Amino acid sequence: MPEARTLGEAPGPRGHWFWGSIQERRHSPLQLFLRAHQEYGDFVRLRMGPTISLLSLTGPELIKHVLVDHADKYGKPAGLVRDAWPVLGNGLFTSSGDFWKRQRRLMQPAFHRERLAALAGSMVEATQQMLAHWRARPSPSTPLDVSAEMMHLTMGIVGRALFSTDVSGTANRVGQALTVALAETNHRILSLGLYAPDFIPTPRNRVFRRALDTLDSVIFDIISRRRAGQTQGDDLLGTLMAAQDADTGERMTDAQLRDEAMTLFLAGHETTANALSWMWHLLAQHPEVEARARAEAERVLGGRAPTAQDIPQLRYLTQVFEETMRLYPPAWITARQPVKEDVLAGVQLPASPRIVVVIPAYALHRNPRLWPDPERFDPERFSPEQSAGRPRMAYLPFGGGQRLCIGNSFALMEATLITALVLQHFRLRAVPGHAVEPEPLVTLRPRGGLPMLVEPLHASA
Ligand code: HEM
Repeated sequence: MPEARTLGEAPGPRGHWFWGSIQERRHSPLQLFLRAHQEYGDFVRLRMGPTISLLSLTGPELIKHVLVDHADKYGKPAGLVRDAWPVLGNGLFTSSGDFWKRQRRLMQPAFHRERLAALAGSMVEATQQMLAHWRARPSPSTPLDVSAEMMHLTMGIVGRALFSTDVSGTANRVGQALTVALAETNHRILSLGLYAPDFIPTPRNRVFRRALDTLDSVIFDIISRRRAGQTQGDDLLGTLMAAQDADTGERMTDAQLRDEAMTLFLAGHETTANALSWMWHLLAQHPEVEARARAEAERVLGGRAPTAQDIPQLRYLTQVFEETMRLYPPAWITARQPVKEDVLAGVQLPASPRIVVVIPAYALHRNPRLWPDPERFDPERFSPEQSAGRPRMAYLPFGGGQRLCIGNSFALMEATLITALVLQHFRLRAVPGHAVEPEPLVTLRPRGGLPMLVEPLHASA
């Protein structure tokens, strides 16, 4: 076997002599990853200043190595866990090791298909409420920020799924607190550790603390009322409260329930909202795809509201959503850190906090060896015929391996139901002259929102 290479011998741009590619990482990350992989192939080293290396992967075999075959050697980056900790605590997204394994086992049943089917009704109801607001707008010809609408809708849906109550109203302090918590967590993750620690009472930190206190008090209050009433409810929180470790018989403590509820709340709305926003944008650019998707919704549903049982028939709608997440994966980059020594792509890696292995789904999904003519929007790529034989790790909107998104079926069901309803009653058109561009924060969103013209299809709609 050939000797493993050193980190310094890994392919990649030299960048600035001192900063490496740190400026590009900050100002145009999507282009940085795309270009680096076009030039250097599926394995690229990007220097971030004098001590930190990003190892970026866009080859399915390499990705499988990290996420599946040697997953025990790669953990969530310590910085990410630290930044997300005030909100997510030791929830499923941030935890690791045996604790994560136990929690995942306890929570998985809540996401089984039959359990999810029971949530379809409330997803449809929340969407119908949104459509009623759209219909009642006093000035229907002014553009609407569809991105904000989707955020509001998905927050309402995951709130109901968790607690059986709508928390999304703008007047509602939970919705506002959640928005602050999400924005501050995003800010912390993106500022690479350069923010005032929590014990310094900057105005920003005080607003954050207040938002966390609000969220904590609401969640703990719901839990304690349920414990006092001896009823757990049949929503997600109820399922988490009832979940019992098969070996020890243990149930989750209030603190664990809080962390998991907060994690599902946060992980479960912004990503789906962004994916839906990108889909409306793409459909407006591709009227032939939109017409086919609407025809499918009308053929399957004939004007009625969809149910979970309709989803397998709404195949093209699902393909549209999948193709949207190929071009605009909401979780556009996933990161890991080697926690044990490994040899990756022939390069010897020590366990080190100064090495971050990243999988930029945005660039992977544009790898021309996996996706011919990658910039073309074509939902047929996800037809059973065209999908056959594609490597599993070529398409990772929900991540892969053991840390695969637990909410993927939830999100797919939610998106299909929402799309089927909206398409039957409205047409969303681009605002002439408004340029839509992606903003790669922690998730990939349309920069500055997504104003669109929202037109009812029928006078009575
Ligand atoms: C289109 C929508 C969604 C996208 C694109 C998405 C994407 C992802 C990705 C890429 C990961 C893996 C992160 C990593 O490996 O580091 C993940 C994990 C996770 N997601 Fe999602 N997600 C979506 C919707 C949801 C929903 C609806 C929920 C819950 C209701 C959810 C809950 C979670 C949780 C709890 C994890 C951590 C799982 C673990 O580590 O065991 N997500 N998601």
